[in-house]
Amino acid sequence: MDKRELPIAVFDSGLGGISVLKKLTQALPEERFIYFGDSANAPYGTKSREWILSRCDDIASSFIERGVKALVVACNTATSVAAAPLREKYPDLPVTGLEPALKPAVEDGADGAVVVMATPVTLSGEKFKGLLDRFSEKREIILMGAPRLVEFVESGVYGGEEVEGYLRSLYEPYRGRKISSVVLGCTHFPFLKDSISSVFGDVAFYDGATGTARETARRIKEAGLETEGGDGYVMMENSDPDERMIDRSWELFDREI
Ligand code: DGL
Repeated sequence: MDKRELPIAVFDSGLGGISVLKKLTQALPEERFIYFGDSANAPYGTKSREWILSRCDDIASSFIERGVKALVVACNTATSVAAAPLREKYPDLPVTGLEPALKPAVEDGADGAVVVMATPVTLSGEKFKGLLDRFSEKREIILMGAPRLVEFVESGVYGGEEVEGYLRSLYEPYRGRKISSVVLGCTHFPFLKDSISSVFGDVAFYDGATGTARETARRIKEAGLETEGGDGYVMMENSDPDERMIDRSWELFDREI
């Protein structure tokens, strides 16, 4: 089979990576995509790095056995742990990932603090520490681990009192401080923007999805792997056998974010 006609594989610990899939399909409307949400094992963000690496390795090998032309790690947590080892293991496969969009947030010229919301694994990783070292002189940066937000999205809760109560408990220690920007450093979080705004006020949001989609398109072109007029087919798969996960996947894919 012509390699150019193979699909692009996209995966996340669950449904969050659909926020990235959306941008990918906009940037590459003719390409085919297989999205795999590992909801049976979500969240990743509170598990050990060894566990995450081994799980990502299994997911990548099963995609490669099926035949894919590129891999998008649509998860900040999995990228932080597994993107570099996967690139090393599959040097001919374009592998793109996500990292918290700290640079544009710090450089947006606003005068309040920048909040980085992410999972504990992302915030404690070497990759993020390097990013923080580059930017922490320039603006006040508040790190906010928010693992429960992942569970809300996985269970189909995209707002409401429980979500806002949890967000208020995260916001409480910073009440009275001016917060102007929020980095959504987990791919589940763009689906909760409305609730975050209702608790944090009028903030500017930053996430890495558009940059990742652009970089994926660039890498595919560079490798000569662009489809010759494909049909833009998207397939949703999930490790959780509950049928509602696929319905939820499409519902999230169709949401305005
Ligand atoms: N969506 C993932 C991310 O971007 C993490 C969710 C999880 O903890 O499983 O970090």
